Amino acid sequence: MSIGEFVKSADFKSEKHAPVVVVPAGIKAGETFEVEVSVGKEIAHPNTAEHYISWISVYFQPAAGPIVQVARFEYTAHSEGGAFTEPVSTFKLKLDKPGTIIATSYCNLHGLWEGSAEVAF
Ligand SMILES: [Fe+2]
Repeated sequence: MSIGEFVKSADFKSEKHAPVVVVPAGIKAGETFEVEVSVGKEIAHPNTAEHYISWISVYFQPAAGPIVQVARFEYTAHSEGGAFTEPVSTFKLKLDKPGTIIATSYCNLHGLWEGSAEVAF
């Protein structure tokens, strides 16, 4: 058994759980760029006390070599105090090698999901 068997993926345009990774066009080696990760970009995911996205973890898989975790975001308010954290985050990244940025996310009712974006120079 492998955890990969339980990580689901789908087209985010038809599946609200699929995390989306957005990177700009024209990324250059060694130059910082902005990465946006989110769940519910096309179809909103519920954000209630009973049903919410807990976190998004972001990894970089270079064309060669081991995968690297590059960011992790925790969404911790789901009605407490009348606050609801939306699962959308941006961060900056600099890469020396091309590869794939992969986001994994967790819904408390519907499990683990993944999405990705390729980075080529
Ligand atoms: Fe869900």
